Amino acid sequence: MEIRALRPSDDRSAFQSGDEALDRFFHRYAGQNQFRHYLGVTYVAIDGDRVLGFATVAPRHIDIEDLPERARKKLPHYPIPVLGLPRLAVDKSAQSMGLGAQLLRFVLKLASKIADDVGCAGVVVDAKPGAIDFYSKYGFTPFEPLEGQSEARPRPMTMWLPIQAIRTAAEPGH
Ligand SMILES: CC(C)(COP(=O)(O)OP(=O)(O)OC[C@H]1O[C@@H](n2cnc3c(N)ncnc32)[C@H](O)[C@@H]1OP(=O)(O)O)[C@@H](O)C(=O)NCCC(=O)NCCS
Repeated sequence: MEIRALRPSDDRSAFQSGDEALDRFFHRYAGQNQFRHYLGVTYVAIDGDRVLGFATVAPRHIDIEDLPERARKKLPHYPIPVLGLPRLAVDKSAQSMGLGAQLLRFVLKLASKIADDVGCAGVVVDAKPGAIDFYSKYGFTPFEPLEGQSEARPRPMTMWLPIQAIRTAAEPGH
């Protein structure tokens, strides 16, 4: 299994995560967005010629007014560049085997490299209600305080992980 950028020749048609919107995006739009419009890049976890998971990333910016008070400190009052992770999914056949975590770690490493190359303050995700706990596990925090049960929240929850936290977590012994 390797994680690499999607290629035009990759067969995307058999992928099924169980989330209809994510699957439709991967089948129909991931290729044209990347190869024709340059809107983002989809990284695939691929075993032989089978795609087992994907993570789509794209540049994004955030306004510091959206961040919690404590995260605003020392940040300037203009849009802050971050790496967006709008989509992450694992094929049903490979779920609960650590692949989602591997794809996420790949994206965090990519953000750390982008931070050195062009600037990037962190990674931002729009977590669906069922995935909020998944991202929390890796240190992502919501832009707004969580109120009540996540199941009660119909909209995705914007969450972020600053580069400093990504680097601290990557330090040996952490
Ligand atoms: C959510 C998803 C990406 C997780 O990928 P996965 O490969 O099944 O997860 P992993 O096996 O890497 O799990 C890593 C850890 O996260 C936990 N986890 C996985 N899915 C979780 C979820 N939905 N909520 C909370 N925790 C979750 C696992 O229990 C595991 O914990 P552990 O290390 O303590 O054992 C995958 O299940 C999926 O594609 N689901 C459908 C689409 C979706 O909801 N995508 C999120 C888009 S916002």
